[in-house]
Amino acid sequence: MTSPLLSIRNLNVAYPTRGGIARILTGVDLAIEPGASVGLVGESGSGKSTLALALLGLLPGDADIHADSAVFDDFPDALSPENARRLRGGDIAMVFQDPMTALNPLFTIGTHLVDIQRRKFPKARRAELWARGERMLARVGVSDAGQRMRRYPHEFSGGMRQRVVIAMALLVKPKLLIADEPTTALDATIEAQVVDILHDLRSEFSAALLVVSHSFGLIAELCDTVIVMYAGTIVETGPVADVLRDPRHPYAKALLACEIEPLSAIESAEPLVTIPGTVPDPANRPDGCVFAERCPSRHDRCVVPPPFVSQGAGRGFSCWLGVSP
Ligand SMILES: Nc1ncnc2c1ncn2[C@@H]1O[C@H](COP(=O)(O)OP(=O)(O)OP(=O)(O)O)[C@@H](O)[C@H]1O
Ligand SMILES: [Mg+2]
Repeated sequence: MTSPLLSIRNLNVAYPTRGGIARILTGVDLAIEPGASVGLVGESGSGKSTLALALLGLLPGDADIHADSAVFDDFPDALSPENARRLRGGDIAMVFQDPMTALNPLFTIGTHLVDIQRRKFPKARRAELWARGERMLARVGVSDAGQRMRRYPHEFSGGMRQRVVIAMALLVKPKLLIADEPTTALDATIEAQVVDILHDLRSEFSAALLVVSHSFGLIAELCDTVIVMYAGTIVETGPVADVLRDPRHPYAKALLACEIEPLSAIESAEPLVTIPGTVPDPANRPDGCVFAERCPSRHDRCVVPPPFVSQGAGRGFSCWLGVSP
């Protein structure tokens, strides 16, 4: 077995708020093998971006971050602010939902593509880095890359900007690329193109990929493994195809049904399926299973937090249904 590129045990993130301590992530374990592609899915507020930002060392200063261990490659304490800073933009690169967060309106695309490479190639000539940047821009599907290098971000469409950001990320040859909702801000056609690019690049570059999304569909296209999050906890993980075919956790089942049902609902004009109830307030989490309040399979045992039941072949879920009574 290869040793994981990233291995985190028992990650907890909390914020002090007026209403008390808001526990955003609780007991998260995460392992990503070199070159693997992992998807993180869950409804809004489940803590997906918090997990991604924790890995990048980009959570706000008042975040209380604790893990039993967090190893990235040669960094035994990957979440310390100093190590996270060293990893970010080097071994770990990122693509956010809004490409403008990574682009400076005052600089040309070419300058962005050159500057991002500086840390990795401090002694290289600018012309060399420019040429590399131009080749990468062409590689991510920007036509007339030579001309476009001299243009500014506002002269690009949203989809083109996202390609630029992907090019920037790949130019640093990261070992892990984190993409947080990389296509949410794009329309459907452009979304499909960006997904295709990420898909192609996966086989070409050896980086591991962590894709954050609301959508099982997007994750099924890009990832081998899926992690389903609910209210700051991992409720199910496994190979994407297996989880899609046979989700075990009631929340994973409901989330999948929400995604699949709307298509048939449009045809039959039935109301869209939603999961009744809301995610618990992070400052007032239930003592037992976090999903119990909304769960159709709720049982007396659910007042006690369920164990994470490993089922072999990389599958596991956190529910009393997996434990014989
Ligand atoms: N600085 C903060 N202080 C207190 N709570 C916060 C802070 N930042 C985020 N949260 C809370 O953390 C929870 C998780 O947020 P997060 O952005 O990680 O969710 P998400 O799964 O990425 O959602 P989305 O799909 O909408 O992007 C939310 O309840 C949010 O209100
Ligand atoms: Mg988010």
